[in-house]
Amino acid sequence: MTKHNKVKDDPAENGHRPLSSEEIGLPAPVTAETVAEGKAQAEAQAERLKGHEVQTLARVESAPRLITIDDLRKDSIVKAFIRRANEQLKLIGYTEHGERHASLVANIAHNILVRLGRPARQADLAAMAGYLHDIGNVVHRENHAQTSALIAFDVLQRLGLDPYETALVMGAIGNHEEERGDPVSEIAAAIIIADKADVHISRVQNPDPTAYDIHDRVNAAATKSFVHVSEDAKRIVIDLTINTQSATIMEYFEIFLSRMVIARKAAQFLNTSFELVINGTRLY
Ligand SMILES: [Fe+2]
Ligand SMILES: [Fe+2]
Repeated sequence: MTKHNKVKDDPAENGHRPLSSEEIGLPAPVTAETVAEGKAQAEAQAERLKGHEVQTLARVESAPRLITIDDLRKDSIVKAFIRRANEQLKLIGYTEHGERHASLVANIAHNILVRLGRPARQADLAAMAGYLHDIGNVVHRENHAQTSALIAFDVLQRLGLDPYETALVMGAIGNHEEERGDPVSEIAAAIIIADKADVHISRVQNPDPTAYDIHDRVNAAATKSFVHVSEDAKRIVIDLTINTQSATIMEYFEIFLSRMVIARKAAQFLNTSFELVINGTRLY
C-alpha cells in the first residue's frame, strides 16, 4: 500500500477528521433541546412585538428610505460606466461626457426646478436623471438616451427607488436628445435645458487644437456658460461668453440651433419663456 493510499484510507492518522458543524458554519444538529430553545425564543420575540416594536416595523415598511443622487455617486457600477463612457467617447473624438458633465447637468437641472419653486423631491429626481442621462454612451453613442434610460432602470431598481419615480427618471433620460426627444415631464424639461447649456472650454478633450472639429472649436471658444432663472420665475436664460476669435457665432448656431429649439420647448413646458444671450446680446 502506498503512503498516498494509506492517508486516503485512514484520514484520522494524519490529523484529518471531518469538520464539526460549528467549524463549517452550519447550524448545530437539531435535537430535542434545540427545538425547545427555539420555541422559547420565538415566544419571547412574539411577546416583544406585541407593543411598540410592531408599530415601528409598520412605519419603516410604509416609509422606505429616499434614494438620492448621493446613492448614485457612491455606486461602483455607475462610477465605472460613466468613466468608461467618457473614455470611449474621447477615443472617437467627442467632447467630455464624464463625471464633470454628469454632475453639472444634475446640479443645473436641480437648481432650475428649485428656482421655479417646484417640490424638493421633483428637483432630487431631476438631479438623478441628470446624473445618469449620458451613461448609455458606455454601450454606444447611437441611441444613447434610450440605453441610458434602461441602464438607469437597472441601477435605480437595485437601489430600491420607488417604481413611479423610476419611471419619471427613465422617461426624462430617454427624451433628453434633440433628435427624437420631447419634454415629457418637468424633470425631462429641466435636464434638457441643463444638458444643452453645457458648452464650455473644459469639455474639449482633443489635445491638438489644429485637429479641432466644429464641436471642439465652439466649446473651446465658450469661456462662460450660465443658466439663469429670472427672479419672477418667468424666464430661463442661457448666458454664454464666446471668444469670437476661436469660433464664430455662426459656427455656434450651426451646431446648437437644434439644441436651442428643444431647450425653448422645454422652457415652455415649464411655463417660462426662453432666451439665449451670447456676449451680452439676446440672440434667440
Ligand atoms: Fe446625451
Ligand atoms: Fe449630455
